[in-house]
Amino acid sequence: MDRFLVERSGPLRGTVEVGGAKNAALPIMAACLLTEEESLLDGVPRVTDVESMLNILRVLGVECFWNGDTLVLRPGGYTGWTAPYELVSLMRASVCVLGPLLAKQGRARVPLPGGCVIGLRPIDLHLKGLQALGAEIVMDHGDIVARAERLCGNTAHVAGPSGSSVLATANVMMVATLAEGVTIIEQAACEPEVVDLANFLIAMGAKIVGHGTSIMHVEGVSRLRGARYRVIADRIEAGTLLMATAMLGGDVLVRGAREDHLRAVVDKLIEACVTIEQEDGGLRVRSTRELKGVEVTTLPFPGFPTDLQAPMTALMSVSRGVSLMTEKIYPERFMHVPELKRMGAQISREGPSAIVKGVERLSGAPVNASDLRAAAALVLAGLVAENCTEVFGIEHLDRGYAHLEQKLVSLGARLTRERSS
Ligand code: EPZ
Repeated sequence: MDRFLVERSGPLRGTVEVGGAKNAALPIMAACLLTEEESLLDGVPRVTDVESMLNILRVLGVECFWNGDTLVLRPGGYTGWTAPYELVSLMRASVCVLGPLLAKQGRARVPLPGGCVIGLRPIDLHLKGLQALGAEIVMDHGDIVARAERLCGNTAHVAGPSGSSVLATANVMMVATLAEGVTIIEQAACEPEVVDLANFLIAMGAKIVGHGTSIMHVEGVSRLRGARYRVIADRIEAGTLLMATAMLGGDVLVRGAREDHLRAVVDKLIEACVTIEQEDGGLRVRSTRELKGVEVTTLPFPGFPTDLQAPMTALMSVSRGVSLMTEKIYPERFMHVPELKRMGAQISREGPSAIVKGVERLSGAPVNASDLRAAAALVLAGLVAENCTEVFGIEHLDRGYAHLEQKLVSLGARLTRERSS
């Protein structure tokens, strides 16, 4: 397994371009199963989760290849309806093929995604939503088996105790595009990635209104066509780069970063004494690295995203005073905390909260990343720590960040990847 060697660095200077959003690209790739026609996708990041989705699509019978930076997906008359366990177990987002397979093939078999290091991740909302549209669902040998002779529009609710589900909204929306009549999706997720999927489906000929709000209307059509589409820029990568500059100091233009996708993050960074301004198709971030502690609660969009909780906790570790991080989406998503503590961070846990007492300096140590956002947090911590930090588990980082180390190095950060032979 590869590892990073991370040295104390900074300040960061220059311009960096944000890549396409993994969490927008994955459901959009799955949506290609709703048509026989070819779709061309630009801005899809070359990360291993995208490779996993491509492998699933190939098993289902879709021809997939890269033409330069454009991803070409040709479903033709694909007949597959079973997603293989070996591939689904690599990535929970594989569950977003469930809706399109059901809508197009009338049946789908998808292994129930297993446990996950960021906590319990049930899929009851996906199943209830699909059942509301007429699917019959049974469990068989650990697989979800869904069938429908006829799918009909209905009202579907896609929220649970922690708020709306992003991928349940995606699954129900995709099925509704080909169901008879109108579907009303109540308490729909408003994340930019859901809006991006809706825009792609509209480009395919779907009739959708209300995306980006909590009530969506989808009027079913008899068929969808292929489309050419550019995936939105990754707000989580953008936020990670803003936080890196905030922690290391400097002056960086994060091109492609959108204030409307990152408002809660920008507000908190400004409160922490970072300067952020909109400029030239991006956000310019300036920091003296003198940061002030803040209180953050993760919430569904437009709240502070759970996917930036770990990097923000790393930032809090070196901010003056006491910070409070409360995780409302995945209350157990704190696997990075013991690793940050190994580097000298002063963090205590109370239920879904981490109380972070800022320290002057972190110190380098070997640390292990449990998931991709934890990996990003440990890289940022390593960049402000004394001595060298070895970050293991960076295969997790490669699942969702394309070229993060090259981007940080281009701005002046000191880290190298050691490849295992
Ligand atoms: C998406 O996962 C993202 N993944 C996650 O990003 C992200 O953390 C999450 O949304 C929240 O923003 C992709 O888009 C591929 P949810 P998703 O269903 O849709 C509960 C990353 O690091 N829930 O919106 O699977 C659930 O337990 C990843 O890139 C149910 O109760 O998340 C959680 O508390 C990790 N029942 C809350 O809803 C369900 O059926 C939100 O989860 C589904 C979810």
